[in-house]
Amino acid sequence: MTTPPAKVELLTARMVLRPVGLDDLDDFHRIVTSPGVHEGTLTFPQEPDEEWSRARLERVMERVDRQECFFVHAHLRDAPAAGAIANLSLDIVGAHARGHLGYMVDQRHRGQGYATEMLTAVVKHAFDGLGLHRVCANTWTWNDASSKLLARVGFAREGRSRQHYLKDDEYIDADDWGMLASDPRPWKD
Ligand SMILES: CC(C)(COP(=O)(O)OP(=O)(O)OC[C@H]1O[C@@H](n2cnc3c(N)ncnc32)[C@H](O)[C@@H]1OP(=O)(O)O)[C@@H](O)C(=O)NCCC(=O)NCCS
Repeated sequence: MTTPPAKVELLTARMVLRPVGLDDLDDFHRIVTSPGVHEGTLTFPQEPDEEWSRARLERVMERVDRQECFFVHAHLRDAPAAGAIANLSLDIVGAHARGHLGYMVDQRHRGQGYATEMLTAVVKHAFDGLGLHRVCANTWTWNDASSKLLARVGFAREGRSRQHYLKDDEYIDADDWGMLASDPRPWKD
């Protein structure tokens, strides 16, 4: 039996991107409690406890089982004992062949190109493996690390949704980013 495309493992130059299971709860909790995750995302609390992380991971895994999400942990190939250093989710809207990205890197591993490498591999898989037509993402307007990352991988900033989200009792603007399967891929050979 072949592996469903939502559960395949991807290999990059420095990492293995592995579908996540409940055994990965400790890594998941460590990453989601990393500084800056609450600030950069919508639904991750300031200080998630283990129960919150477990419930979140279980919900994501149910969505993976229904083929509504591709969700991986990134492990360093030359330091497997270090555990996962990043995670990435791609929520899939099958009716429109569209995926929506979310990602975070453990603070100790930021600024070394890991998110760039992880997104590049997943976007390629989204188009060529999952057969998606469009991949999109939202960033807060102040999140330069994430905006530069998306631009580097080949996303276009398509607009700004003003006061689109209510977060921590404040309405905040979000930038809308998108990439089509037919768009130029800066990383393609
Ligand atoms: C946004 C986030 C995922 C970026 O992760 P990251 O791993 O630091 O990103 P990268 O390392 O790929 O890119 C960051 C910098 O490292 C540089 N870099 C260093 N070594 C590199 C390499 N070998 N290859 C590519 N880039 C490299 C990049 O050029 C980039 O610099 P620049 O953006 O100033 O040009 C991370 O800051 C994070 O987890 N933030 C908290 C959660 C969050 O905000 N998520 C996004 C929600 S929209």
